[in-house]
Amino acid sequence: MSELTALQEQAKIRHEIEAAITAMFAPEDEGLRSALAEAKRAGLPQIAISPIQGKFLQLLAAMCNAQKILEIGALAGYSGIWLARALPAGGRFITLEVNPEHANVVRKSFARAGVGDRSEVRVGKALDLLPQLESEAPFDLVFIDADKLPYPQYLDWALRLTRPGSIIVADNCIRSGKAFRQPEDEGMVGIVEFNRRIASDPRLVSLALAMDDDYTDGFAIAVVKHS
Ligand code: SAH
Ligand code: DHB
Ligand code: MG
Repeated sequence: MSELTALQEQAKIRHEIEAAITAMFAPEDEGLRSALAEAKRAGLPQIAISPIQGKFLQLLAAMCNAQKILEIGALAGYSGIWLARALPAGGRFITLEVNPEHANVVRKSFARAGVGDRSEVRVGKALDLLPQLESEAPFDLVFIDADKLPYPQYLDWALRLTRPGSIIVADNCIRSGKAFRQPEDEGMVGIVEFNRRIASDPRLVSLALAMDDDYTDGFAIAVVKHS
């Protein structure tokens, strides 16, 4: 077997594993599928997390008994639906989104997915909105997935707005390995610094995990330590 064929075979196996895990553990219902369809129809970028990542967020929310969840970067509400569905009765989900057109799609998608009652979309730049959340803290889980340059500042805010035992997750922290090297372009500066900080902050236990649909990108995850 040539080297190329062997690599193609590996990629095919990884894809089959991904599909099988998705079918068994993270099937999408109509609410999730229509959030993606609506996003496509509205011409939004197709950069939502994968179903496995969505299910993983639910798992993390359950692990920290989340009652209050904060998201930075809503897009069309796909990740938000997974997160809001992990909440118990009376739970609250707040997502921050700078683009009002995105926010409109999100509200529609939340209603259609049955999570409109417990969810709220706040429109504005996350760095402008985060200070207003201090009175609503602590959040049990914070998911960071907005613009990449301020990721280190989003981590500072996540630490301010959480409690010991809370979980902090950020998307796009692998980037085919670029997220761990000296940044070559502006786009990676925030993520590289974010990884350095989340990996070494003495208040956190953390890990980056390749877990998107082709294993080239994924989450950084941290739990806030009990001191
Ligand atoms: N979490 C979503 C994907 C988010 S894509 C999902 O997986 O389904 C990133 C989103 O962050 C976009 O909708 C973009 O408009 C928003 N965004 C970019 N910069 C922002 C900022 N400064 N504050 C808040 N949202 C921002
Ligand atoms: C981009 C942003 C994301 O959050 C993502 O998951 C993938 C791509 C982007 O801005 O290109
Ligand atoms: Mg992302």
